[in-house]
This record gives sequence, C-alpha cells and structure tokens, in this order.
Amino acid sequence: MSEKPPRIMIAGATGYIGGGVLQVLHQKGFWIRALCRDKGRLRNPDWCDDIFVGHATRPETLKGLCEGIDIVFSSIGIRSFKRKPTIWEVDYQGNLNILQEAKHAGVKHFIFVSVLRGSEMARLSPVAAARERVAQAIIESGMDYNIFAPTGFFNDEQVFLAEAQQKGVVRLIGEGSGVINPLSALDFGEEVVKVIEDPELRNQVKPVGGCEKFSHRQIAELAFQVIGKEPRIKTISAWRLALLALLLRPFNYNAYTLIKFFEFIARTPDMTGEPIGRRRLEDFFRNLTKGLSIAEADSAL
Ligand SMILES: NC(=O)c1ccc[n+]([C@@H]2O[C@H](COP(=O)([O-])OP(=O)(O)OC[C@H]3O[C@@H](n4cnc5c(N)ncnc54)[C@H](OP(=O)(O)O)[C@@H]3O)[C@@H](O)[C@H]2O)c1
Repeated sequence: MSEKPPRIMIAGATGYIGGGVLQVLHQKGFWIRALCRDKGRLRNPDWCDDIFVGHATRPETLKGLCEGIDIVFSSIGIRSFKRKPTIWEVDYQGNLNILQEAKHAGVKHFIFVSVLRGSEMARLSPVAAARERVAQAIIESGMDYNIFAPTGFFNDEQVFLAEAQQKGVVRLIGEGSGVINPLSALDFGEEVVKVIEDPELRNQVKPVGGCEKFSHRQIAELAFQVIGKEPRIKTISAWRLALLALLLRPFNYNAYTLIKFFEFIARTPDMTGEPIGRRRLEDFFRNLTKGLSIAEADSAL
C-alpha cells in the first residue's frame, strides 16, 4: 500500500453488497468514488467523496473512472429476471470494462465479488461462469487481487420473509435440507477493509459466509417466527425447476441462468463459506418487519 491513504472506487455502490461496502468504508474514513447510473439509488450520496455517473456496459461512459484511484471494488451484476441486458453484458462484459479502465489508470488492487463454489456452479449456471471468468481475468491482470466467493447475502434470504408476509406460505426448492450461512453486507464490508489494510491478505480467493448456519427450511421457519405465524412451507422439486429453466431458456436467458443458480444452491448440501462477522439474520428480518427498506434494515444492524 502507498504511504498516503488509498483512494477507492466502488462499482455496484447502489446495490445491496456495494452499498454495505460503501457504508463501512465511509465509516472507516476512506476516500471513495462511487460509479453509478443513478445517484438517487445510493444508500447515502454524502458517504461518497466523488460520484462518477457512467454505465458499466458502455465503455465510452467510463473514461477517467479510475484516474487517481488505488483500489477498485466491484459487485456489479444482475439479480433480476428482466430479459435485457443479459448477464453476459453486465456480469461479464460490464466488469471487464471496469477492469480495463483500472488497468489503464494503473490501479494496484482489484477486489471482486464472485459466488461460492463458483467453478462447480459454472457448469450449471452461466451467471457463475460469467463471474468466474471475470475473476480469472483479474487474477491474470498482474494487479493485486482479492476474489470473494460469498454464500447468499441477507437480501437473498429476505425473499423468505416477503413470501411469509405476503402469501402466508414459503416455497422451498426440494426439502430445504441444504445448509448456508447468510451474510450481511456490513460484515462483508468489514472483511473488505481487512484486505485493503493488510497487504498479507492480498492475492487470495476466499469463500465467505455469516456467523450463523441454517438449513433453507430453518430460514423459512425463522421468517414465520419473526412475523408470529405458524410455518406453512411447500416444496417444489428441483427437477421441475430444471424443466422450467429449460423451457424459459429460448425466451429469457437471465431467468434461465438465475433459476439454474437457485437449483445449484438447492441441490448442494453445504453452501457455507468461512464464517465472518457478527450480524444476525433474525435482526435483519425484524428490521424489515418495522417497514424499513432492505438497505435501511441492513444499515441499522
Ligand atoms: N446477493 C447475494 O446473495 C449474492 C451472493 C453471492 C454473489 N452475489 C453476486 O453479487 C452481485 C451483486 O449482488 P447484490 O446483492 O449487491 O445485487 P444488487 O443489489 O442487485 O446490486 C447490483 C449492482 O449492479 C448494478 N447493475 C445491475 N445491472 C446493471 C447494468 N445493466 N449496468 C450497470 N450496473 C448494473 C446495480 O446498479 P443499479 O442500481 O444502477 O441497477 C447495482 O449497483 C450479484 O449479481 C451476484 O452475482 C450476490
């Protein structure tokens, strides 16, 4: 690390993971530039020292993005079933466009969010394949790197609470016996601080998860417990889901790849990463039941 404090560019700062990283880095006093398409989507624009408006998928809008920057963090990616743009345009090419800008500006360190068990998952889900290819390009770039391979974050698990509240029933893929240790974006942000501050932690691929382990079924039960209702849980078989993904593939590639992503998680008995942090899913769910948004529920943990 250089003598003066590093300047950090966060891509994905308007999202759940990047928003948590922005909050923690700001609290630690780092100088931050955020890349965003719409400033209004930031958790708090005042946490940024500089806001760069640009589109990851349009390289002509990224010129100068990494000028004066020492470290780049990116969590940009698609988690919606919208047909366009595709994950290859955003998760893959969008992140490669940022990597190109970083190389051009002489950035020293690139931190990237991939997925837990990415190389295995890549055989089933193109979104994992796209992110693993970006991770490989970063490793081969010659810059210092940290690739994080997280399990599901709290924002993914929020779907259980939303279903319990809105539909009165939660649907699990398979029996829900596979285990995960969901992670708060703030705990993740603290892990990012460690790799920024300690050069010994550089050049690693690290699987990460939160401090508590649950089966998917236990998360559904927790959602009902938090809203004070008896659990009503139904199951969808993984093969039905696989069939649905195949049927959707010609019309909606993003839906196909995300369903395959969830199928992999449901079929894998252990989706836990190395435990980090201290924040609890139950507290996040309770914050959501007070009417807070996902970002607010997380910020308050
Ligand atoms: N959340 C999880 O459980 C989890 C677990 C493991 C890995 N991951 C990986 O991490 C990624 C980010 O997760 P997240 O929970 O932070 O997702 P998120 O809340 O949906 O945030 C996604 C970020 O990517 C940006 N983005 C999306 N589409 C874009 C586009 N077309 N052009 C430019 N920017 C675009 C968003 O910007 P806008 O605000 O402008 O849309 C936002 O900043 C995921 O895509 C996934 O691959 C997530």
